Amino acid sequence: MNATNVVITEVHGKVGLIRINRPEAMNALNNDVVDGISAAIDRFEADDNIGCMVLTGNEKAFAAGADIGFMKDFDYMHAYKIDFITRNWERLRTSRKPVIAAVAGFALGGGCEIAMACDMIFAADSAKFGQPEIKLGIIPGAGGTQRLPRAVGKAKAMDLCLTGRMMDAAEAERAGLVARVVPADQLLDEALKAASVIAGYSMPVTMMVKESVNRAFESSLTEGLLFERRVFHATFAVEDQKEGMAAFVEKRKPTFKNR
Ligand code: CAA
Repeated sequence: MNATNVVITEVHGKVGLIRINRPEAMNALNNDVVDGISAAIDRFEADDNIGCMVLTGNEKAFAAGADIGFMKDFDYMHAYKIDFITRNWERLRTSRKPVIAAVAGFALGGGCEIAMACDMIFAADSAKFGQPEIKLGIIPGAGGTQRLPRAVGKAKAMDLCLTGRMMDAAEAERAGLVARVVPADQLLDEALKAASVIAGYSMPVTMMVKESVNRAFESSLTEGLLFERRVFHATFAVEDQKEGMAAFVEKRKPTFKNR
């Protein structure tokens, strides 16, 4: 276990666990927390033994948003000069290895946004999602107005961003924001189990899947299909394709070598 105080990392087999640890502030995201998450992603991306990551908080809060005390006195010039949000918050988006957000309790504002920046969300039945920035006189600043409509459609995204209300785990699953809802006491186990399944596959191929699914949100269907087709062709240059198909034909478990 490695603790940088507000962000704790652990290795579970081939899975890197990143835990936000500011319980006294509902895991509000200040620079130390976001820098800590970025550093953990750097470390796990560089580690050939790690095939998937899980980002989580505690039972009360995944993260209740950007730290309001930290930014309340910002003026425009300061926010612009430090490139607030962009500098370190974007690291999740650029991660090439898959990241699962395991969300219990509040995922509000920036908390909901970093969950959405992960590749999928597993929610405890206690989870509550929302973009309450409007109550503070600001708009979401870490992707809320862009990723939420892509996940749940315009109507519900407008509802959440304009009223600032929260939605519970059941509504979030119905709306397509979360991949799975599980009892709160099983959240981490379920997320680690799924991450371990992913980490057991060929790492370059999981990266190609992630890149291809993400392409669906960046391109027309024709361009997206072309991208997928070319990447699919490229998998025939991956040694693990030979191993995966040979193992199927020989009725044995494949041994992937990540090449
Ligand atoms: N920033 C700083 N501190 C926060 C915080 C935040 N986002 N959220 C909670 N805290 C702190 C509280 O100030 C409180 O600290 P003290 O004990 O020192 O007073 C502590 O965490 C516990 O919070 P509450 O007493 O409020 O707990 P509660 O159970 O009554 O309510 C809550 C929980 C509904 C999450 C409530 O704390 C809340 O509404 N928090 C703010 C949520 C929010 O507005 N998030 C958006 C932030 S802006 C943003 O994220 C911009 C962006 O897009 C990047």
